[in-house]
Amino acid sequence: MSPADAAGDRADPLNAPASFGPVLLFRGLTDQRLSLSALVGHPEDAPPPDLQSACGPGRYRALMRIDGLVVARIDFALPVGDGVAAYRLDGRNHQVVTRLDGDLRMAFVSCNGQEHGDFDRPEAQRNAMWARLVADHARQPFALLLHGGDQIYADEDVKSHPLTRDWPDRPPREVTAAELHHLEAALRRAFVVRYTRLLASDAVARISAMVPSLAMWDDHDICDGWGSLERSRGRSAIGQIVFRIAREMFLLFQHGAVEDDIPDLFADPSGAALGWHHRLPGFDLIAPDLRSERGRRQVMGPGGWSLMERLRDARPQGHVFLISSVPLLGPRLSLVERVMTLIPSMQKYEDDLRDQWQSRAHREEWRRMLSLCLDVMEDAPMTVLSGEIHLAAQARMRGRGRDLIQLIASGIAHDAPPQGYARGLGLLAGLGEAPLPGHPIRIGRLPGQRGRYVAERNYLTLERREGSWSAEWELEQSGRTAPVAL
Ligand SMILES: [Fe+2]
Repeated sequence: MSPADAAGDRADPLNAPASFGPVLLFRGLTDQRLSLSALVGHPEDAPPPDLQSACGPGRYRALMRIDGLVVARIDFALPVGDGVAAYRLDGRNHQVVTRLDGDLRMAFVSCNGQEHGDFDRPEAQRNAMWARLVADHARQPFALLLHGGDQIYADEDVKSHPLTRDWPDRPPREVTAAELHHLEAALRRAFVVRYTRLLASDAVARISAMVPSLAMWDDHDICDGWGSLERSRGRSAIGQIVFRIAREMFLLFQHGAVEDDIPDLFADPSGAALGWHHRLPGFDLIAPDLRSERGRRQVMGPGGWSLMERLRDARPQGHVFLISSVPLLGPRLSLVERVMTLIPSMQKYEDDLRDQWQSRAHREEWRRMLSLCLDVMEDAPMTVLSGEIHLAAQARMRGRGRDLIQLIASGIAHDAPPQGYARGLGLLAGLGEAPLPGHPIRIGRLPGQRGRYVAERNYLTLERREGSWSAEWELEQSGRTAPVAL
């Protein structure tokens, strides 16, 4: 089915907002221009939104039509000139930071939802940290908004169809082609509803209209543990439909893209991996895709490795920010994993651990990735940005001259786990870990915090001032941390 005409099986209207957007997406930067796309949704019978900027009118392209809703993008540019420029969409002005050299602020968020009842929470509670991000932007604007994975939690959508209700634990025995077709259409509708509700919610909509986004997905943008599932589940016809629809929706709603756009937006033109890399004034942003090529025994495949090796070979000179949706530095989880293999009822948790870089199954690959980071750090300082664990934390691995720093900020909307969980992880972290001999990993503390892991919702801000980078966490209860120098 062509994505531009993806009507569902049912004729009833989509239970989704009639419109959403603009959601700004970063496309590129030259000396003169900041290139952007604005993702918008509008009713099929309404005229396409009109976007104007000092660089001229935007170029509209419909990407998908589904049950009366059109999802489209408008490509446009802003002059870099004064550092701030406005665009006008359907009569409303939006200001955008256009200079990415000199002093600058970025925000990093992850885990925007939860597995059960995400939208059953009152919006003010669900989006409390988003509202804080909006206020933060009003005080001192962000130039970029980085999304580090789990931008949606699709779990309930996947579970909403009879064929996938008990999948992947108990897959249905026999499935007809007609049932699979029905599943595909139902999943597409469910994902569209989830994404549009999210993008149309007040605080998310406000920040998305002003700050260009760059996103990398993680498992919940597909389903819990995608890639670490038993091979027979992931590769089954049902598993492939879940992945295909999740990927189509990731491209559409997180990148304003369809299949043809892949060579322009991602490092691997085949689209087998959806990693990306942007070289910006004085810093690099790179995000390998840890999901598309993942299997029980690998985190990344050829697409992911080639992206990372090209980064190393390009010898970056500025600060490198590596988005690793799943934390790259962490405690010795392999110990816990070893214990769990002995207890059959712990299988689910064993699968969760399998999803981590630190799993015994990925030990060699983890070492390869860390060695590659050390190589990059011969030329440039590097900071890893991660989410996934619904806690705030920082870690360091001793390097050959400078340390590899990792900042974990998660989640922006996912509720924090119990304090006991954070304390347990903190105890485990006390044991230390050194996957590369001579390069121990240490889990530090956030400024002003007693425990190593902070169980509060949060987001991260990254700031460059007079050439020096620092990071601060905004914690839901404890507030703003002091800055950590990077
Ligand atoms: Fe998450």
